[in-house]
Amino acid sequence: MKKGTDALTNVASAFGTPVYVYEQSVIENQCQKLLKYFPSVAFHYAMKANSNPEILKGIRKQGIGVEAVSLGELSLAKSVGFKKKDTSFTCASLTEEELCAAAQTGVRVHLDSLTQLETWGRRALGREVSLRLNQGIGAGHHAHVITGGPHSKFGITLKDIPEAKRIAEKYGLSITGIQQHIGSNVLSADIFIKAMQTLLKTAEAFPELTHIDFGGGLGVPYAPGEKQLPLQRVGKEFVAMSKAFAKKHGREVSFAMEPGRFIVAESGSLLVSVVDVKETSAHLFAGVNSGFNQLIRHAMYGSYHPIENLSRTRGTKTAISIAGNVCESGDLFAVGRPMIRPEIGDFLAIRNAGAYGFSMASNFNMHALPHEVMILGSGRVKDISFSPSNYAL
Ligand code: LLP
Repeated sequence: MKKGTDALTNVASAFGTPVYVYEQSVIENQCQKLLKYFPSVAFHYAMKANSNPEILKGIRKQGIGVEAVSLGELSLAKSVGFKKKDTSFTCASLTEEELCAAAQTGVRVHLDSLTQLETWGRRALGREVSLRLNQGIGAGHHAHVITGGPHSKFGITLKDIPEAKRIAEKYGLSITGIQQHIGSNVLSADIFIKAMQTLLKTAEAFPELTHIDFGGGLGVPYAPGEKQLPLQRVGKEFVAMSKAFAKKHGREVSFAMEPGRFIVAESGSLLVSVVDVKETSAHLFAGVNSGFNQLIRHAMYGSYHPIENLSRTRGTKTAISIAGNVCESGDLFAVGRPMIRPEIGDFLAIRNAGAYGFSMASNFNMHALPHEVMILGSGRVKDISFSPSNYAL
């Protein structure tokens, strides 16, 4: 259960704002749902969604592995105890040195291009390879996060499979894995199911396959009216189609998925304080002590985040635009949002900020990164603030 206003107000008062607050129980519940509905799948948490070490440790304890996209993420994942066998790596536009370094860690690498495959063979990085495929199916909450189809920079397109096989043959490589990731925050079960079916069809072209990874993208509702992804239905369909595939394929195949947002989004809120109120001919602005340098999703994708005034629960609602403290006019958390008129000193909770919030934060305008705290299962609040620059390689 997500905590109500009192718990969040206590955090804002005790730790000050801006502060990210996460609820351990929400993360654990999300992990449990995945494990329940997809019993035969190995989950690898896409740590780009939130790479706070305490969060990573909690997810690992749930029996979930990790997916990394940079040497920095690999190093952090290792430092919090993820084993090689539970770690995967996928990245476009890698330098040869980065690819070699990732391969040498011994984790499963999903190769993103024919160039990476050629490098893998020429540098003799291992006999078995896995390919990230772009099957032309893409979905997601914004064009920036759709990762399948002709406009996506990711993966090896289906037309290049014969060439990939030639390169593999030239170097004596065996293509034992395939992976796809269609995009982020997908709420339609049908698209997922179609993408999975298509990948299982494509898999028939790879007789040596032992591993299939369906990527991430499982969505969560943000805006009013958005419905939950029917996870149970996707799980049920998946179990049926994977069983049929295993029977037809005739050899053991392991399945994986890489959700990021689904596990952490709803656990987190960014708590901010109202520091100014200003009326223009077009807006009633509430200025807050945070900005897109701490939560970029509205400025970057126009994303909706529920915003609650923790200090004021009664009053008539009016259209409020929530503005940040960064020197750009696009630095807004909401535009014309119906809410009770905030006053200076009020605490606001920007909800569903656990995924792609802190992990996309920067020091733009030379503001410090926000603190991060976790409400533990016991109710105790723990400071889990983290300095990512210690890991960025
Ligand atoms: N696997 C791969 C290869 C990915 O590229 C991603 C996300 C995931 C898994 C996890 O996707 P998820 O389950 O979290 O949807 N910053 C954007 C989201 C970018 C996602 C990028 N790739 C946002 O704030 O909406």
